[in-house]
Amino acid sequence: MWLLPSFRACLAWALLSLVLGMELSLQESFLLKALGLSTKPSPKAPVPVPPVLWRIFQKRKMLPSTNRDPVDACRVEEFNVPGNIIRVFADQGHFIHSRQPQRLLCLQKRLYFNLSVLEEDEHLTMAQLEVKFSHNSYHTSSQGQGFELRLYQTSQLPLREMPSQEPGRKLLVEQSFVQLHKSLLFNLSGAAKDWRTFSRNLGLILEISVSGRDGASALGSEGLQGLCTSINSFLDTSLLVVTLSQQCKASRRRRSARYPPVTPSNLCRPRRLYISFSDVGWENWIIAPQGYMANYCLGECPFPLTAELNSTNHAILQTMVHSLDPEGTPQPCCVPVRLSPISILYYDNNDNVVLRHYEDMVVDECGCR
Ligand SMILES: *[C@@H]1O[C@H](CO)[C@@H](O)[C@H](O)[C@H]1NC(C)=O
Ligand SMILES: *[C@@H]1O[C@H](CO)[C@@H](O)[C@H](O)[C@H]1NC(C)=O
Ligand SMILES: *[C@@H]1O[C@H](CO)[C@@H](O)[C@H](O)[C@H]1NC(C)=O
Repeated sequence: MWLLPSFRACLAWALLSLVLGMELSLQESFLLKALGLSTKPSPKAPVPVPPVLWRIFQKRKMLPSTNRDPVDACRVEEFNVPGNIIRVFADQGHFIHSRQPQRLLCLQKRLYFNLSVLEEDEHLTMAQLEVKFSHNSYHTSSQGQGFELRLYQTSQLPLREMPSQEPGRKLLVEQSFVQLHKSLLFNLSGAAKDWRTFSRNLGLILEISVSGRDGASALGSEGLQGLCTSINSFLDTSLLVVTLSQQCKASRRRRSARYPPVTPSNLCRPRRLYISFSDVGWENWIIAPQGYMANYCLGECPFPLTAELNSTNHAILQTMVHSLDPEGTPQPCCVPVRLSPISILYYDNNDNVVLRHYEDMVVDECGCR
C-alpha cells in the first residue's frame, strides 16, 4: 500500500490487480472501501432502478462521445447542485391506523428513510421526496374533488396512546392536489440536513385527506370512502439524495483516448484493458455498466526521452543517469498522467440504488515519471 498515493488514484490499479488475481480478498475489501462500501453488497430484494437514475446514467455515458465540453464530475447538472453521489432511498415506514378515525382523513403513514449509509465526509446538497400514486391513467375524481397532503417532521418518538394532535411534530408541507397521475415532489433538503446534524432521524408523517373546502361536508360517508379508495391505490414514496464527497475534486476533465490505438510499440503509452465486472464477481450488485475500458500504462522510458513521453525534468535526468549506470539507477516508470472518471450504478448494502461518479477510473495518458 505504501506505493499508493491515495485511495482514489489507485482505484483503477486495485481493480487491475483484482483482475490479475492478486490477493483477491485484501484487494477487494480495499476497493470496496474506496467505493464507499464496508462489505460487498448482496442485494436481497433489488428494486427496479428509478427512471431518473437511468436517465442521468445514460446521459453521462453519452456525453464524452457527443460533446467535447468538459464533464464536471462533481456536479449534478440535472438538478443544478454540487454532488457526485445520487441515492434513491426506499421508504421503510408503515401505515398508521388511528383509533379515532377522522372523517376526511384517507390515510396516515409514517415515512422513514435510513440515511445512515451516508459517510461523515459527504455533504448533502439535495433531498427530494417523491410521492407517487399507482394510477397510470389520467384521473381526476368524479366530482372534481381535491385532496390535501400534509407532511410532518417527527421530533419525538411516537407514544402508544398518543392524542391525534401530538406535540412532537412540525408541519413541513401542506399542498392540495387533484390529479393522481403525476408524482408530487417535495424539497426536503432542510429536514434531511437536520437528520444528519441536530436531531435523530425519526422520520416523517404523511397525511392525505379529502379536501374539506369544496363541499366535502355534503358527501356521505360512502362518497368519502369512494374518494379515499382512489388514493389508497397509492403509493410509492422515495427520497432522492444528492451528496458531494470530499474525494471529489472540482477539476474539470475531458476524456480523450478511451480506446488507445493498438499500434505495436515498446515505448511508454496507454494499452487497452477492458475490465468486466462479472469477471471480478461483481455483476449481482453493479447494475451498470457491465464493464468498461480502464486501460493501463506500459512501456519503456528510454534515453533520450522525447516530449511525447510526457516526462518530468526529473525523469529526463533519471534516464540520463540510467544510461550511464544501468545497474545502479532504474529507468523512470511508465505511469498514468491523466485519468478520467466513470459513473457506476449499483445497489448498496441496504438495497438502495446509487449512482456514483468515480474519479480516476480510466487511463487516458501515460508518462515517464
Ligand atoms: C439503518 O441502517 C443501518 C445499516 O446501514 C442499520 O444498522 C440501522 O439499524 C438502520 N436503522 C434503522 C432504524 O432501521
Ligand atoms: C430546497 O430547500 C433549501 C432550504 O431548505 C433551499 O436552500 C434550496 O434552494 C431548495 N431547493 C430548491 C430547488 O428549491
Ligand atoms: C502525452 O500527452 C499528450 C497530450 O498531452 C498525449 O497526446 C500523448 O498521448 C501523451 N503521451 C503518452 C505516452 O500518453
